[in-house]
Amino acid sequence: MQNLRFSRFFAFSGRRWQSTNALKSEYLDILGERHATDDITNVTPAILSKIPLRLHSQPNHPLSTLRSLIESHFPDYAHLSSLSPLVTPFKNFDELSFPKDHPGRAVTDSYYINKGLMLRTHTSAHEVEVFAQGNTQWLLTADVYRRDEIDGSHYPVFHQMEGARIWSADASGMKEVEDDNERLSSHLTRSNIAIEDVPHLSPANPAQPMHDPRHSELIAKNLKLSLNSMLLHLFGGVAGATKENPLRVRWIETYFPFTSPSFEVEVFFGGKWLEILGCGVVRQATLDTANVPHKIGWAFGLGLERIAMVLYSIPDIRLFWSTDARFLSQFKQGEISKFKPYSKYPSCFKDVSFWTAQDISVHENDFCDLVRDVAGDLVEDVKKIDSFVHPKTNRTSLCYRINYRSMDRSLSNEEANVVQQEVVSRLKEQFRVEIR
Ligand code: PHE
Repeated sequence: MQNLRFSRFFAFSGRRWQSTNALKSEYLDILGERHATDDITNVTPAILSKIPLRLHSQPNHPLSTLRSLIESHFPDYAHLSSLSPLVTPFKNFDELSFPKDHPGRAVTDSYYINKGLMLRTHTSAHEVEVFAQGNTQWLLTADVYRRDEIDGSHYPVFHQMEGARIWSADASGMKEVEDDNERLSSHLTRSNIAIEDVPHLSPANPAQPMHDPRHSELIAKNLKLSLNSMLLHLFGGVAGATKENPLRVRWIETYFPFTSPSFEVEVFFGGKWLEILGCGVVRQATLDTANVPHKIGWAFGLGLERIAMVLYSIPDIRLFWSTDARFLSQFKQGEISKFKPYSKYPSCFKDVSFWTAQDISVHENDFCDLVRDVAGDLVEDVKKIDSFVHPKTNRTSLCYRINYRSMDRSLSNEEANVVQQEVVSRLKEQFRVEIR
């Protein structure tokens, strides 16, 4: 059933909402290389067109400034940013101890070129290779890809920054960690930051069995101090942190397959707690695979868009991809400035209701990718407004409401209708739905 979903694949036509009705192409050319497709291929032309753009390296772009700002906080680290997004599922998941049945592996959640190749879903996919190259402290910035719903804060391509630091797992390594902890603590106690902490180790968030818990504790402490200090650097100034009104950071225990103990960090900004990053003590299996078994250390991963949206007051995640001078010309490399919105154009809502075919399910992410592929960034939001199974016929009915709105110009109702008709005809063709 799964495999039927992308049984038809549309060759990329320059005209955005004109499908060629071509049969599934046998190969895809990506970054100058040709790759065979197969029955799980689900990457769409809209997604492929983002791969060369590399917003994190575009001068003056907010994502590029944010990257430099974080890099400048870790000046002695290796700064990497040009690794290809094409990775094997082994590298994205298995090498990081993800279980075989992890939901992230599903074709409904990740983009596959074919069974052996996918678009990385996180920068952690490069941990083993970067450690194996001998890097002991490094930052890596890259575009990552996840199938998701459509709204103002989700986009199937976004940018992450991974950071890691490892030491020799012996007395001299641990002495270095202790010294660094001392240095960082004395800096932070004099700063305007209020931290809600959790224990470095707990029964639910334990040291790994092969680690000396005292070592694990020192590393977790170094991780917390390093990231608290980085967050103060990023948010302290913009938030106007003072003694009376310090920057609030809170640590939460969590779980990742490739770290233990693991944490999530939130920052209180603009009246809300924002999830900023995930991190933890690197799973020893990762370091063993990277051929550095005698090291111990930490890693973190953060999403750049979410942070940039609050620091720059950017209201819609699509704006990062805008080529409109009214967006781009507002920013200067190295400076965080408040985005001045240009007028918001009117929305145009269109509904589509349909019965799904008996043998092809329509996952919400399938629907969103189809709409994104037809409408590009003219789609602002997609909501499922109704779903039911007919008690007699057992058929499933779905209704979606699509909000079309351009960020750059006024969209006419006729234009939105053309896009909507193309969505409908692709739905019928790709998923054999019956429009109600
Ligand atoms: N890769 C994780 C994510 O995308 C974040 C992470 C990175 C967590 C490194 C722990 C260590 O959610």
